[in-house]
Amino acid sequence: MTVLVLGSANADLVVAVPRRPGGGETVLGGDTVVMPGGKGANTAVAAGRLGCEVALVGAVGSDQYGTLLRESLAASGVGTSFVRTSDRPTGLAYITVTPDGENSIVVAPGANADVSPSDVDRLEWDGVTVLVCSLEVPLDTVVHAIGAAASRGARPVLNLSPVTPVPASTLALLDPLIVNEHEASSLAGSFEGLLDLGPRSAVVTLGSRGAAVVTASGVVEVPAPAVEPVDTTGAGDAFAGALAARLAAGESLVEAAGYAVRVAAVSVTRPGAQPSYPTPDEVPS
Ligand code: RIB
Ligand code: NA
Repeated sequence: MTVLVLGSANADLVVAVPRRPGGGETVLGGDTVVMPGGKGANTAVAAGRLGCEVALVGAVGSDQYGTLLRESLAASGVGTSFVRTSDRPTGLAYITVTPDGENSIVVAPGANADVSPSDVDRLEWDGVTVLVCSLEVPLDTVVHAIGAAASRGARPVLNLSPVTPVPASTLALLDPLIVNEHEASSLAGSFEGLLDLGPRSAVVTLGSRGAAVVTASGVVEVPAPAVEPVDTTGAGDAFAGALAARLAAGESLVEAAGYAVRVAAVSVTRPGAQPSYPTPDEVPS
């Protein structure tokens, strides 16, 4: 394997709503659509669609949703030999999507909650150049995996989503730390300030405006093509997967981010997370 992705696999139960309900309120939506999702599985599928040799490290339940996820991963060329079948149910994400393409998500972690450091200890690291993690699996597992990657010469990348406090000793190994704009401003006063948290590099995703790459030599803004958003669910995961694929292929961080913003832009023009990710011929140049 060239890229390992450690993270969640969820079945996304998606309903279109005219607007988000407030507390105590009921809103009628469309029919429920079930799609493969989860930040880890999404990231792995994004990389796999692009032709990257990639495997997911995670867990699903022995239920219909676990089958859905395994099939989606396999169909995109993602290795599943490090996806364990847990006694707990497959993770579920309850997602509402509003007409502007924005989403709200509640996750029931299920099997994702028992992805453990011992799952990391079973990994084979031969040929792995990049490890990408996200935080819908336990933090101690992510910390352990990032340490293991660094000690084996693989480049650790962390998508800080959902936002979680991470030990400084882990942050110091990241190249890059990926955060969105809101997280960046809550973590640091400026994009450059993100490096004071310790990572070797950082990437700030800026939604429709693209991304900013932060290294010791400064900040480079990478613009995104203008698109009409349909569903932004999993756009950040598409970005992380594409970035990892291109880093593994030897591109610089700025080049890889430039490609990843275009992959993410395609993904927002189509419904769902994994089903919306492009193959290379669908990525605008
Ligand atoms: O980032 C999008 C993902 O978050 C969805 O696919 C959902 O499963 C939640 O994990
Ligand atoms: Na999408």
